[in-house]
Amino acid sequence: MKEIEIKSVLQVYDSFDELPNDIQELMQKSIEIRDKAYAPYSEFLVGAALLLENGKVVLGNNQENACYPSGLCAERTAIYYAGANFPEIPIVSMALCAKSLKYQLITPTPPCGACRQAIAEYELKQDHPIAIYFMGETGKVVKSFSLANLLPLIFDNSYL
Ligand code: THU
Repeated sequence: MKEIEIKSVLQVYDSFDELPNDIQELMQKSIEIRDKAYAPYSEFLVGAALLLENGKVVLGNNQENACYPSGLCAERTAIYYAGANFPEIPIVSMALCAKSLKYQLITPTPPCGACRQAIAEYELKQDHPIAIYFMGETGKVVKSFSLANLLPLIFDNSYL
């Protein structure tokens, strides 16, 4: 038996104001779409803004359902829209933010496991890393250079 070590390196910005200008703009769009989320059950609003290589920005937010599992996260709402409408245009970066209507969320909120798996598919397909920035309502912003950096041991089509 031997051990393997899996390492992820993340960059942490102290606040929104510390982000590069272009990412502030993207995060601002994510905040605006977050506030239009349909999340009456969890009261947890999530926004996703995807910057495509051609400069276009694709937005998504979480859409809940009385039949809970039928709802969809913000990240997948956005990335499936990008995949459906701009299948040939690479995604350069994603800005994600979350907000709870029940308490002040100051912890940077990463994409859930199912969304990481979904984003991984597109990162592998385009063979170019997607930079991911995520934050809560306020506070620190975390950057991951790629999705792969957030999802060790990706299940990909090489196993099929
Ligand atoms: N949610 C997202 O939109 N993205 C995530 O990565 C985590 C969770 C949504 C799903 C649900 O509508 C609410 O947040 C609470 O889980």
